[in-house]
Amino acid sequence: MLTPNLTVNAKGHLCIGGADCVDLARDYGTPLYVMDEQMIRENCRGYQDVIAKEYGGNGMICYASKAFSCKEIYRVTESEGLGADVVSGGELYTALEAGMPAEKIVFHGNSKTNSELEFAVRTGVGRIVCDNLPELSRLQSIAAAQNKIVTVMLRVKPGIDAHTHDFVQTGKIDSKFGFALETGEAKEAVLTAMGYQNLKLSGLHCHIGSQIFDTEPFAEAARVMLRFMDTLRESDGIVLPELNLGGGPGIKYVEQDDPKPFGDVIRTILNAVHETCDTLSYPEPYVLFEPGRSIVGGAGLTLYTVMAKKIIPNVRTYVLVDGGMCDNPRYALYQSEYEAVCANRAGEPKTETVTLGGKCCESGDLLGENMPLQSVEPDDILAVLATGAYNYSMASHYNRNPNPEVVMVKDGEARTVIRRERYEDIVRNDI
Ligand code: LLP
Repeated sequence: MLTPNLTVNAKGHLCIGGADCVDLARDYGTPLYVMDEQMIRENCRGYQDVIAKEYGGNGMICYASKAFSCKEIYRVTESEGLGADVVSGGELYTALEAGMPAEKIVFHGNSKTNSELEFAVRTGVGRIVCDNLPELSRLQSIAAAQNKIVTVMLRVKPGIDAHTHDFVQTGKIDSKFGFALETGEAKEAVLTAMGYQNLKLSGLHCHIGSQIFDTEPFAEAARVMLRFMDTLRESDGIVLPELNLGGGPGIKYVEQDDPKPFGDVIRTILNAVHETCDTLSYPEPYVLFEPGRSIVGGAGLTLYTVMAKKIIPNVRTYVLVDGGMCDNPRYALYQSEYEAVCANRAGEPKTETVTLGGKCCESGDLLGENMPLQSVEPDDILAVLATGAYNYSMASHYNRNPNPEVVMVKDGEARTVIRRERYEDIVRNDI
């Protein structure tokens, strides 16, 4: 199986975290997102341990909640000692409602609105990562109006090619995110921020991309950032105490994927930090990391009911399910591959190759092509694996499909963490 938390029981049913997926589908209906709490907690601890062992605990892991945001995930990650990365007023609101302490929240976004910034300043968010000069100036005015000193970091593009899909590459110069190093923009931003009375610049941030299997681009980004920090010290005597290195470690979606364990990735980055600081005689900064996918991705799966099968001779076999791009747009957007399993016959060999089609009125509404699968029939339960990240959080209401329920399983028991939307919810704001 793709991840160790997935097993097959005596009935031949797929189980996640000890819970029988066929029972879950019967009890909660489909489509259904299922998250394994134990695995999420183990991932959080894995990250916390590396920071403790390799860096004397001089840092913080902030769960990147764009991967999956709801109240319960903030409670779970916070109880493991993590902070949170939020990227909108909505994520910030959810985190605060869940009891995530404001000072442990890092607020991102390349186009934050004034009301989002006012909200963040009013609620005392720990760090606001500024992306551009107009934002810095607006934040200064908002902080002054509220008579507050706000801790800020600056998002810098370190110019790293992270060998990932173009859409999720964000550290290059041609990116809408952050200040470029090469053009002098980043230095100008540092000096501007230092000049604002109500802003306290604590450090710099970079994020080079997502679903990255290699460790070297991360280490190189850390070196580039530290060298830049050193030039600021030389030219202007500015020593910044914090460095936020973003998220990005990849996960296994299909058997061929071979990502480095995230512990190795963080260890390599921290070694690069140690060595570079040593070479430059630069004080080791407090570090922040913002993993999202690697905390929740492998911990989730989605259950569907097979509605129909269409065999088009010499072309392909479509298996059609009761969800689709409205609950998982990642194949439609990035051709991201997934593994599917017939949950009620998980022990049987995969004898067919199918295209998994969704229910949306769109030919491109596919969950995958050329997917090996057991021979399925209508009413079978299908599991698409490793959907814990960027699935629920990227779901839409296309065709006015209500968002599915999300359950979390622990010790074989499931509980609802997000209720299934009803048609009444869909029309709630209609006039
Ligand atoms: N920090 C920042 C500033 C980010 O922009 C991101 C992701 C993360 C942390 C978390 O990265 P992770 O550890 O999850 O790779 N929708 C795309 C992924 C977009 C990621 C955007 N930023 C997908 O479905 O693959």
